[in-house]
Formats: sequence, structure tokens, C-alpha cells
Amino acid sequence: MSTYCFTEEQTEKLGEIFGKTVRCGAVVAMCGDLGAGKTAFCRGVARGLGYTGRVTSPTYSLVNEYEGETPMFHFDLYRLSGADELYDLGLEEYLDRGGVCMMEWSERVEGEIPFTHRVTIKTVDETTREITIEVI
Ligand SMILES: Nc1ncnc2c1ncn2[C@@H]1O[C@H](COP(=O)(O)OP(=O)(O)OP(=O)(O)O)[C@@H](O)[C@H]1O
Ligand SMILES: [Mg+2]
Repeated sequence: MSTYCFTEEQTEKLGEIFGKTVRCGAVVAMCGDLGAGKTAFCRGVARGLGYTGRVTSPTYSLVNEYEGETPMFHFDLYRLSGADELYDLGLEEYLDRGGVCMMEWSERVEGEIPFTHRVTIKTVDETTREITIEVI
């Protein structure tokens, strides 16, 4: 499905709806340019999974964990040096923990990870985003 979001709040809300319906074990590739709204969408997903605290970008930490009713593991692979580093981070363990994995900059590891969904955010103008959600 594909839809337009006209504010950051709408993008978060769409993420929240996705988070409420997605099953445990989902591994979601988040695609879109710098500042497209990937983190905003993931913030909504955490909310949909029952997490009520603050959700920040894992750009420097590479992965943040959120313990809601269902755990969410939020990766940002922008600074990843290669697939090896992802395995050093404990990727296999994260995949086995039955939470929802959200991965920004998943293009860095295309082919390495068994993604179940792809969310693509296209910047149309300053505040308009076209968001496509696919099961893959
Ligand atoms: N419709 C919209 N949806 C989401 N964000 C929007 C929208 N309109 C404007 N924005 C702005 O775009 C920016 C999105 O930032 P965000 O950190 O979520 O992007 P990102 O894709 O995670 O970037 P990065 O690649 O740096 O991780 C925010 O500054 C937000 O206020
Ligand atoms: Mg981000």
C-alpha cells in the first residue's frame, strides 16, 4: 500500500498503525533519503508496540532497544563499515529474540538480511512524503 503523509505527526501515526498490526519476528527495511522520515516512522512503530518513552535516532549507537509489550530493535546502518560489523553487533541474537527489527539504511546490507517488509519514504516536497509499505 502507498499513501501520503503531510506532517511528521502523520508519518508517526502511520508507523503506529503499522506497529499495532505487525507480527513479532518482522524485519523491516526502511528506505529513503537523509531526512525522509525513517526515524519518525520508527518512533510511531515503537508507540504501536506499546513503548511510551523517548525514541531517538541510533545513528551513533547503530542499534537501540525499546522494551514495549513487544520489543523493538531500531538499527541505523548509515555508519556501518560492512556486513561483518552487523554480525559483531549481535544481529543473529536480535533476529532470534522475537521482537520487531526496524532497519534504517538497510541498503548497506541488501541481500544479507531476511527482510519481511519494506517501507519506502519518498520526499515529495518539504513536508509531503509518499510512504509505501510492502510485504516482501
Ligand atoms: N511528512 C513528514 N514526515 C516525516 N518527517 C517530516 C515530514 N515533513 C517534514 N518532516 C521533517 O523531516 C525530518 C525527518 O527526520 P528523520 O530523522 O525522521 O529522517 P530520517 O529519514 O530518519 O533521516 P536520517 O537518514 O538522517 O536517519 C524531520 O526534521 C521532520 O520534522
Ligand atoms: Mg533516521
